[in-house]
Amino acid sequence: MNRVRTVRKAVIPVAGNGTRFLPATKAVPKEMLTIVDRPVVQYAVDEARQAGIEHIVFVTSRNKQVIEDHFDDAPELISSLSRSGKKAQISELEAMLPAAGSVSFTRQQAPLGLGHAVWCARDLIGDEPFALLLPDMVSFGARGCLAGLMDLYNEAGGNVVGVEQCAPEEASKYGIVGKGETARHGFAVTEMVEKPAAGKAPSNYYLNGRYILQPEIFSILAHQTRGAGNEIQLTDGMLTLSQSQSFHAHPYEGRTFDCGAKQGFIEANVAFALARADIGDLVFESVRDMVLSHESRIRAA
Ligand code: G1P
Repeated sequence: MNRVRTVRKAVIPVAGNGTRFLPATKAVPKEMLTIVDRPVVQYAVDEARQAGIEHIVFVTSRNKQVIEDHFDDAPELISSLSRSGKKAQISELEAMLPAAGSVSFTRQQAPLGLGHAVWCARDLIGDEPFALLLPDMVSFGARGCLAGLMDLYNEAGGNVVGVEQCAPEEASKYGIVGKGETARHGFAVTEMVEKPAAGKAPSNYYLNGRYILQPEIFSILAHQTRGAGNEIQLTDGMLTLSQSQSFHAHPYEGRTFDCGAKQGFIEANVAFALARADIGDLVFESVRDMVLSHESRIRAA
């Protein structure tokens, strides 16, 4: 018998305002901005499914109904595509449609922080371990990041976080973990700090938005006081949980694009477009030409 409890459910918080992407996000949720031809949130859902997740809980907010529509059936669209013989598009939409009853939505009523958003999912998750994927952080690699966290979870149990290395000057943008004893698929976490001040980071391993957490996190988050940025921080809750349960970190072997920022969003679009069989070669030629002409303009200046 497996000694760890199976992770069946995932939480995907989609309640944020997307102020960094205004005016695009005035009427369109930031999670619905596209990387090539799929909304950002679809990448997190695909990654969760690839890692074996059966049920996804979205923590949403006002004016985000279009996210629910994206994960619902679209019978009028399918009939119209069918009348025009668009079989490939129909198959793609059908493959993306979640099974009936396999997604839930709950609302975070006020933007009080990630720790509060996760806490809003407590009843829908119940008393079992769960995965958490922050959809702004988009995994790019042969395998999604969460599948690697599952390997480490099956090895070590407890709580598992995804990490990657960042430049020292970037550390204050993220949650940072301290590195302890090595495990087969990662290492033990010795400490965690949310958005450390310059020079105070315990390492350059930053939390990349992928987690497997035990349900005891909920009762901690219920009483969590505000931390960095005056928000209820998940990292602070995890730090408390680490006093009674183990935390391990899995360094992702691919690359995560921070699509909550303009640079990361553009980079993700280029990376995913280059990897596509249908448009990759054309995009490569065009990006290469743009880079070459940009370089020659810089040299001439
Ligand atoms: C959140 C987490 C932080 C993590 C980051 C990854 O911060 O609190 O620990 O490193 O996501 O994107 P936020 O981006 O909400 O400020």
